[in-house]
Order: sequence, then structure tokens, then C-alpha cells
Amino acid sequence: MQLVNGYKLMSYATETHSVLPAFNTTNYELTQGIIQGIQKTKSGGYIAISSSNLELSSPNMIASMVRFAMKDAEVPVALHLDHGKSFQDVKECVEAGFTSIMVDASHLPFEKNIEEVAKIVRYCHFFNIPVEAELGAIGGKEDDELSEAGKTNPNDVKEFIERTNCDLLAVSVGNVHGLDIKPNLDFELLEDIYNISSVPLVLHGGSGIPFDQVRRARKNNLIKVNYGSDLRNAFISTFGKEFENNHNAFDVKSLSKKAIENVSNKVIEITNEINYSNNQ
Ligand code: G3H
Ligand code: ZN
Repeated sequence: MQLVNGYKLMSYATETHSVLPAFNTTNYELTQGIIQGIQKTKSGGYIAISSSNLELSSPNMIASMVRFAMKDAEVPVALHLDHGKSFQDVKECVEAGFTSIMVDASHLPFEKNIEEVAKIVRYCHFFNIPVEAELGAIGGKEDDELSEAGKTNPNDVKEFIERTNCDLLAVSVGNVHGLDIKPNLDFELLEDIYNISSVPLVLHGGSGIPFDQVRRARKNNLIKVNYGSDLRNAFISTFGKEFENNHNAFDVKSLSKKAIENVSNKVIEITNEINYSNNQ
């Protein structure tokens, strides 16, 4: 199955009343495990790679790995650039066939954030690709870099969306990246943002957020929840545990297969949990 356009995937979420999981990949095995898991759940989602991970796997490499993993797929998957850090990365991803884009200029002052996002939105809309932008800064550890949190200011939301023309809004409401800091969702703030935002909301830092809280957040026009650390943990611990038990455990092929299975199982668990009320 072909990769699905981001707008189509958003409509699919609305039609199926589901929240879309977005799973971060880095390499071939994670990609295979994610696509396998999404397909087994029989519901759609995103496979994503962040700008910083593009250092290891270029947009073209990732796009071709995803297409290969998707050859027998039957449920919709969009390929998403996560935390896009530069116009160059966005361009390379669009050229490689990515179907959804995030620009993260949240480290910049408000005006500069708007400027950067608006420029990328103009470019992506030309190719009919939706753009997610971040307002407020999500704290925690992202690819080993620790960043300070700054919650989304609801008073900035309307102006930010109107001036950038972004299609999805990533919010900072006590959600954090990584597993080092415990998330503490501020539901009042989320509701305030929801009441103002004309676009659906995105929750980053899905790993570590109790599933019942994600389900509660869904009521606030949540369309997408991002998961990275949980999958990396499932992947790396497969090798780590085996090696701890046996220092001669060098069988890359069988361990990689096991890691793919463990990632796939984590994807299935997350997808079913966040959409649990749908299945009742
Ligand atoms: O953009 C990626 C995500 O926000 C992943 O966060 O590693 O805490 O699940 P996480
Ligand atoms: Zn994130």
C-alpha cells in the first residue's frame, strides 16, 4: 500500500473517531516493527522520524524502508517528519515522499516561531502536505538532549494558528519527552487551548503518560499522540537483556527479529490502549 497523505489520515481519524498514534523510528528494525504493529491493529497511524535521527538515516533511506515495510499493508500510514528543525530537512523530506511534516521552532521567540512555521507551511501546502507546529516548549529528554519546558500560553493560540496557517498544534501541557521526568498533564490548560484552537491538537511525549490520561485528553480534539521512548526501550532492551544473560549472544539476525516482534507488540498495546473506549 502507498503512503497516505497526511490530510487523508487526519480525515480518517475524524471518520473513525480515533486518535492516531505516531511512532518514532530510527532504523530498519524499528521501522519494520512499527509498520508490522500498525498493520496488526487494523487501524491507521503515523511512522515518524525526527530531524536529529535523520543524521543516521537520511529521508530517502527512511522513505524507502517504510515503503518496503508497507508493501503488504492494508491500513493507512503517513510518513511524518517529527520535530523538523530546518527548512532544508523539510525540503529533503518532502522530496523523499514524506506525507506529513512537523516544524519545531518552539525554541525561538514567538514572532520568530511564527515566521519560521509560516514559511514552511507555505511550502508544504503547495504540495498538499499538512504541517504540525509547536507552541510552548515540551520539556524532557529528546534524543539525549535535555530541554526546558514552557507551557503553551492559551492567549497565543489563536494568533499563532491564524498567522502560521498550521494544520495541527503540538501543545505543552505538562507532557514531557523521554522517561526520566514524570509527566503531569494539566487538563484545565488543555481544555482552555481546545476551546480556542481551530485545529486539532497533538500530544508529544506519549511514553510515560498513563493511558487513561491519554483517553481523557482525547475529548479535547486530540488527533495524534507521539511515542518514541517506549519503542526504543522495547528495541534496545531486547539486545541488552540477551547480552546480559550471555556475553556470546552475537546472533544479530535472530535478535533483530526478536526486537522487531517486541517493538510490534508495544505498538499494538499502545494503539489499542489509546483507542480503548472505541472498542467497547
Ligand atoms: O516527538 C516524539 C515524541 O514526542 C516522543 O516522546 O519519547 O516521550 O514517547 P516520548
Ligand atoms: Zn516530540
